Amino acid sequence: MKYQETQLIAVITGGNKGLGFAVAQQLAQLGYRVVLTARNEQAGQAAVKALAEKGLEVDFLPLDISETASITAFTSAMATRYQRCDVLINNAGVFFDWEVSASKVQLEELHTTFQTNVWGTINVTQHLMPLLHKSLRGKIINVSSDLGSLSFASDKENEYYSVSGVAYRMSKAALNMYSIALSKECEASNIVVSVVSPGWCQTDMGTDAAPRSPIQGAKSIVEVVQAPSTQFHGKFVLDGQILAW
Ligand SMILES: NC(=O)c1ccc[n+]([C@@H]2O[C@H](COP(=O)([O-])OP(=O)(O)OC[C@H]3O[C@@H](n4cnc5c(N)ncnc54)[C@H](OP(=O)(O)O)[C@@H]3O)[C@@H](O)[C@H]2O)c1
Repeated sequence: MKYQETQLIAVITGGNKGLGFAVAQQLAQLGYRVVLTARNEQAGQAAVKALAEKGLEVDFLPLDISETASITAFTSAMATRYQRCDVLINNAGVFFDWEVSASKVQLEELHTTFQTNVWGTINVTQHLMPLLHKSLRGKIINVSSDLGSLSFASDKENEYYSVSGVAYRMSKAALNMYSIALSKECEASNIVVSVVSPGWCQTDMGTDAAPRSPIQGAKSIVEVVQAPSTQFHGKFVLDGQILAW
């Protein structure tokens, strides 16, 4: 639990599995003090144990990004333990239905998807802002998706043109717009805001049909964490390349 003052503190939401877990592993290997968070405490602790078995010490805090009470408790624990946050990786997300189309999508599905992917991400970010301002180089990385790009969705040549999943696609497009607004607001501060696509990866969400491993997807995120502050501020990035919004 004791960390070195020189270590950068990196918070990851949804760190118990999939891309969040792979990012936690890669950042811990790079020497960051990783605060792995998860809504399910048992799953979060199991992830911490799995990393400890690889010789990596990471901390755990419970966090359900769709619950304000959980976010408040988390923020207060962060303030007590670390007094600052250097990197926030908004990774937690949900994707309920690949097939549902625009004329059939249920309002309930839209609501639940936005509650996590958009409202939850914004709520965590706003609560952590004071601790990010205490960092010398605060970084917010919102994990989005190629499926959130309006350019890709409207380009018949794009590989994801025919993918439905309308609630998810709308939520990631909304997250992208929020990120652009936040990046503009943060221009005068020490905080960098970037959006990263991990590409289509083999996780519970991405399924085994995906072409990329979680390690590859996490690398796309970690590269932006490591990049110089100005390189990807206000940008949408996959594997170090700028994507069209
Ligand atoms: N995999 C892909 O191909 C792909 C492509 C583009 C973008 N992404 C994005 O990458 C991110 C990670 O996805 P993944 O593929 O790793 O999916 P995953 O394996 O399904 O993991 C999703 C993570 O988010 C957590 N989560 C969901 N709702 C939460 C909440 N309310 N509070 C806290 N944690 C919550 C899950 O926790 P539980 O275990 O408790 O459910 C889990 O840890 C997501 O934002 C996703 O949209 C993924």
